[in-house]
Order: sequence, then C-alpha cells, then structure tokens
Amino acid sequence: MKAAIIGLGCISVLHRPAIALAGGELVAVCDNDKAKLDRFAAKGGKATMYTDYRDMLAREQLDVVHICTPHYLHAEMIIDALRAGCNVLCEKPLCIREEDIDRILAAEAESGRQLAVCHQNRYNQSSVEALRLISESPAVSGFGYVVWNRDAAYYASGDWRGKWDTEGGGVMINQALHTLDLMLLLMGDPDTVQATCENRRLSGVIEVEDTASALFRYADGRMFNFYASNANAADFPVEMVLRTADKRTLTLTGATLAVDGEAASFSHGKIEGGKSEWGNGHEALISDFYSCIRENRPFPINGKEGARVVRAILGMYRSNSEEIPLK
Ligand SMILES: NC(=O)c1ccc[n+]([C@@H]2O[C@H](COP(=O)([O-])OP(=O)(O)OC[C@H]3O[C@@H](n4cnc5c(N)ncnc54)[C@H](O)[C@@H]3O)[C@@H](O)[C@H]2O)c1
Repeated sequence: MKAAIIGLGCISVLHRPAIALAGGELVAVCDNDKAKLDRFAAKGGKATMYTDYRDMLAREQLDVVHICTPHYLHAEMIIDALRAGCNVLCEKPLCIREEDIDRILAAEAESGRQLAVCHQNRYNQSSVEALRLISESPAVSGFGYVVWNRDAAYYASGDWRGKWDTEGGGVMINQALHTLDLMLLLMGDPDTVQATCENRRLSGVIEVEDTASALFRYADGRMFNFYASNANAADFPVEMVLRTADKRTLTLTGATLAVDGEAASFSHGKIEGGKSEWGNGHEALISDFYSCIRENRPFPINGKEGARVVRAILGMYRSNSEEIPLK
C-alpha cells in the first residue's frame, strides 16, 4: 500500500519504520518547513517531497495518509485526505474543537474510507488484559493520574504548543489524553464532569492549563477521579486504579498490571528513536490498521472512538468547577 506522512516532526520517526513493518511503502512526505524535508533527504529518506499537502493529495495515488502535524491542523487535513479517497491515520487528538467532530465523522462516513486515531496505548498488553478482566466484572470506581514535567523549554520547542488556538489545551489534550482515553474505555462514557483546570507553573509562558483535576460521574452512581499535571520536577509513571464490581482492585502502572497487589509485567519497551512515554504501541496499531484496510475489516479506533476523549476533555475545559452534562 502506498503511504504518505504529513508532518516530519518528533512523532513521525515512529511512523516511518511502522509503515514498512505493516507492509506499506512510503511514497510521499509533506512538511511546510523546507528544513524538515532537507533533513529527511539527508538521512536517506526516499519519497517525493511536498510543502503543500493539498498538492500532494492531488498528485499522488495514496492508500494511507499519516497526519503527524500540530493539533489545530488535524480536522482540515483529515477531511481533505478522506475526500481525496485516502484512508487516514491521524495522530491524537482527533481534533480540538467540538464543531469539528461532526464534520470529521460526516466526511468519514461519506468517504467509504477508514479513519484511524493514534491511541496506541490501547494496544499495550496491560490495557488489553485490564479490558478482559473488566469484561468479567465491570469497573465501578477508579482513579487515573499523569504527573509529568513539561517546562518552558519544552513549550518553546514548537510555536504551536501552549496556545488555545493551536494546541487546543495543555496537559489534558496533549499528555494526559492517552490515560483518560483508557479510563473511558475501561469505565464507559460518563454522564457528567466537574473539573478545574489551572496554569500553576507557567503563567505568562503558556495560555493553557498545566494542571487539571476532574470527577466524572455516571447516572448509575459509578464515578472516577482524574488528575493530570505537567508542573512536576520529573516524569512519574502513569497510574490507573480501578475497583471492579466483584471487589478486585486493578492497578495499571507503566507496563504492569496488578490484580489485588499481584503484579504481572508486560513488555512495553520503546521503539528505536522514540521517547519512553510513547510506548511501542505505534507498531501494533499501524500494522492492525493496514491489515484492516487490506482485509476490508473495520479498524476499532475510528473517528467516533477518537471523539470520545476529545468530548470529555472539552467538557473539562467548559466545566469551570461546575458539574456539567457530557451527553
Ligand atoms: N501518540 C503519541 O504518543 C504522540 C506522541 C507525540 C506527539 N504526538 C502527536 O503528534 C502530532 C505532532 O506532534 P510532534 O511532537 O511530532 O510535533 P512537531 O512540532 O515536532 O512536528 C510537527 C510537524 O508538522 C509540520 N507542519 C506544521 N504545519 C504543517 C503544514 N501546514 N503542512 C505540513 N506540515 C506541517 C511541522 O513543520 C513539524 O515538522 C501532535 O498531534 C501530537 O499530539 C503523539
């Protein structure tokens, strides 16, 4: 299958080998920063290079387009690529604005092509095993947290970071999104959220929140808490704790899943050239997506699945300490 990548920044280094492993051929790349294209070529990259993705979509016959660009560009790029007849794999988040969700889902439905959102942590063995246990006895309560360090230097590394218009939020829409996505997968879609989002450490440096806490509730009385912060001096392992209806306690920490304190470790590792917090789910997710296209099977993390965590996070931003409906 012929593939292209739009956006040759940090995360693209994971997509390139994963495309080859999935049996794809990278035939085109696009970045509006010419220096990124020069670097790609200097490192031996072989593909037709473009600075305008619409030009690339018009000229190339592509089976899959990988979108690895800043958040604010995802919606338009997804819609344009689907309309050009391509299957699309978009990095998280699906989009950053409520009004874009319906536009994307409509384009996906009309296109007859597949849209995948890169929630690679769903492919971690610990997540798969936790989902299996939850299918035996549902989760009734939970707590998830992400406590990391993203300082001023990190935010200075890209001019789209730290701004509402371009990143669409801070720690929630960027770093903690994967963990909240897993909490929603394990607990289901909540009915309400009550959240506070603050900028504690980088006031005057970033517009968006660096710290957020939320209580998500269900009409049937279940609930879970969530806490995320980029205002820490170090990155700590992400943790999720769930209590099941049959009173078991599941604790997911990094690559480990413990049931009532009995830990089983799964190998997450990391992909060569990637950062440890990205895990190695990209390879599994991209291979699965390519297999689904080849075999004409629906890929599980489609537009609707990518939208649920975006809706929950946008609800956190709207809440402003009040309990508000999410449905
Ligand atoms: N799944 C994960 O764990 C994970 C990890 C890191 C980043 N990401 C996501 O990947 C995406 C990119 O993040 P990054 O850290 O690689 O950012 P980055 O800033 O390093 O790279 C973005 C690239 O997009 C290019 N770009 C910007 N506008 C463009 C345009 N109009 N046309 C073509 N190219 C354009 C930039 O020049 C840059 O090379 C984000 O959505 C981010 O949230 C996901």
